[in-house]
Amino acid sequence: MSYENILVHAENAIATITINRPKKLNALNSKTIHELHDAFKALDADDTTKVIILTGSGDKAFVAGADISEFAHFSVEEGGVLAAKGQELLFDFVQNLGTPVIAAVNGFALGGGLELAMAAHFRIASDNAKMGLPEVSLGVIPGYGGTQRLPQLVGKGKAMEMIMTAGMIDAQEAKACGLVNHVTTPEELLDLANKIASKIMRNSLVAIRGAIKAVNANFEDGVNGYNVEIEEFGNCFGTEDFKEGTTAFLEKRKAAFPGGNSFKRR
Ligand code: COA
Repeated sequence: MSYENILVHAENAIATITINRPKKLNALNSKTIHELHDAFKALDADDTTKVIILTGSGDKAFVAGADISEFAHFSVEEGGVLAAKGQELLFDFVQNLGTPVIAAVNGFALGGGLELAMAAHFRIASDNAKMGLPEVSLGVIPGYGGTQRLPQLVGKGKAMEMIMTAGMIDAQEAKACGLVNHVTTPEELLDLANKIASKIMRNSLVAIRGAIKAVNANFEDGVNGYNVEIEEFGNCFGTEDFKEGTTAFLEKRKAAFPGGNSFKRR
């Protein structure tokens, strides 16, 4: 599939999606959101893709936010639809994807950009990255899940301060408060993302799918995460990967998880 605003590159079962509007600091316009949805959906359905890395093109920005020029004249109703559609198509979609998604934050991750990084399963950053939710400086609030996911990651007080001040934090501060897991140089960012992806891929992707579901359940209203964990744990016992993982351990050899055709359709 070819896209206008994103690039998709697959190598060694790792797919890298690069948001590619560098002149607009990769700002998320509606077309980009739709293209990202399509790409994530297609990669998740593709058995050969085991991990997805998400990054921005150029050396300046991951994503500098939702495209302000698209919504500057929206009405109350249109604003609500913008947030609801975006959350459904992209932010919640990425969070709930069964294929692991790593955000490699390579510069500004602001507003919708940070919200997108936060929707990924975890984040790493380059040492020139700057992160923040500056929406209130525009007279609006974060609308792509930022008021929910930021407190989940950094705690309520820190999130409140970041949102109210509209300020940016650097990569080291982001690491210190749990927003990103690792910080490296811009040159080494994708290598590190690939290294972590390769480590993930050695494990059962069927089990990882279940684990993503169970971890996410902790943050869903009206859902008992412990019950989801019990269900997903039980499900593992019916998989080929479980048979292989436990057999390999007992035979003192490395597991070769079949995953394959069935694992993404469970
Ligand atoms: N929406 C639309 N366009 C954006 C954008 C956004 N969120 N962020 C950057 N751009 C565009 C700029 O308008 C500019 O386009 P132009 O060259 O056609 O004028 C281009 O990207 C480069 O940005 P510029 O502001 O010139 O770069 P800078 O280095 O001076 O500043 C930022 C970088 C990130 C500090 C600044 O672009 C910025 O504050 N962006 C908006 C961040 C924001 O509020 N995001 C939340 C949106 S809800």
